[in-house]
Amino acid sequence: MPVRGQGPAGFEAVGSVAVRTFAAHQGHLTSGVTQPANMSMDGHHVNAMAGDGSGAPHNHFADYDELPEGHFYDPDAEYEPDPEYAATLAPDAARQRRERIGPTGRPLPYFPIPGPLTDHGPAKIIAMCNQKGGVGKTTSTINLGAALAEYGRRVLLVDFDPQGALSVGLGVNPMELDLTVYNLLMERGMSADEVLLKTAVPNMDLLPSNIDLSAAEVQLVSEVARESTLQRALKPLLPDYDFIVIDCQPSLGLLTVNALTAAHKVIVPLECEFFALRGVALLTETIEKVQERLNPELELDGILATMYDSRTVHSREVLARVVEAFDDHVYHTVIGRTVRFPETTVAGEPITTYASNSVGAAAYRQLAREVLARCHAE
Ligand SMILES: Nc1ncnc2c1ncn2[C@@H]1O[C@H](COP(=O)(O)OP(=O)(O)O)[C@@H](O)[C@H]1O
Ligand SMILES: [Mg+2]
Repeated sequence: MPVRGQGPAGFEAVGSVAVRTFAAHQGHLTSGVTQPANMSMDGHHVNAMAGDGSGAPHNHFADYDELPEGHFYDPDAEYEPDPEYAATLAPDAARQRRERIGPTGRPLPYFPIPGPLTDHGPAKIIAMCNQKGGVGKTTSTINLGAALAEYGRRVLLVDFDPQGALSVGLGVNPMELDLTVYNLLMERGMSADEVLLKTAVPNMDLLPSNIDLSAAEVQLVSEVARESTLQRALKPLLPDYDFIVIDCQPSLGLLTVNALTAAHKVIVPLECEFFALRGVALLTETIEKVQERLNPELELDGILATMYDSRTVHSREVLARVVEAFDDHVYHTVIGRTVRFPETTVAGEPITTYASNSVGAAAYRQLAREVLARCHAE
């Protein structure tokens, strides 16, 4: 099927990303290229907003973040990695294409679209944790939560940073709140229902916080079982949700230890820049200590590479180093850098609703499927 204005492989350069057209996608599926069952092109099919292919081919788009119907996001399609770098990822570039090697240099598995749930709970608690600021914890909490909720999971987000960025990102003004997660932690007899807020996203609730929470760090020190205060506060909520995601503050203090003690899993977002791995040893040490002393169930679910830019050698090198260090702990899903994320904070909503067809929304949907696939594999 001839598609105008395209390179031989059916890729089309659109701004700084490359997209694969639906026609090319179809052609690929019927071209007789054999692929292992677990790494089909469908890995990409679900990676983006699939259209029905009815739209005419587009040759250029004003906003490359919006994928027109029938186009598939392919983060690396436009950019052949330089051969030396490619050699570190896979023996040859052709194999890399054929086997659908993802941005982490490993074959990209197929993460199925999760089926609907008939009943809910008990919740898996995920702590979004890195003592470094600005690595994408809050952004990932909001958008992973929203994507899980879109797939019919009941989600509770816990703002556990006195900055209240998670609350702001969901359109809540933290300064106007009378009751926050602080009250839930510090006041006996306070029920979570009094603090809970519904968000604009169906299936997703919020335990908000504000600067009051910074006092908890000090006040908790003299409490009995101070590390498990949050765990106790969340316990009554477990049957009502499928996932509880805690947005940690950028420190390894008592609040973060509380989050790790309450959690089943940790996700560590890492920004793809030079000092990404600095401090990670301290973080994994803290996680291990909590595992040993307070919460044997705790697991590092994954390292999430954020703000990745496949056009820069630097970003790719950092990602390769992260994979070298953490191997299978690194999520196959990688979050690219796009200005759409800062925009969503201003809008006070997740990217999945603010720019539902954007590459960023597709990435967090894929992350949600990958997280669900890891839960099911247990
Ligand atoms: N993938 C991304 N691309 C571009 N900007 C991003 C991305 N993820 C987060 N940001 C922006 O980076 C800043 C820090 O992100 P944030 O999620 O608040 O990090 P943290 O909670 O770890 O401090 C915010 O302004 C956010 O909008
Ligand atoms: Mg934050």
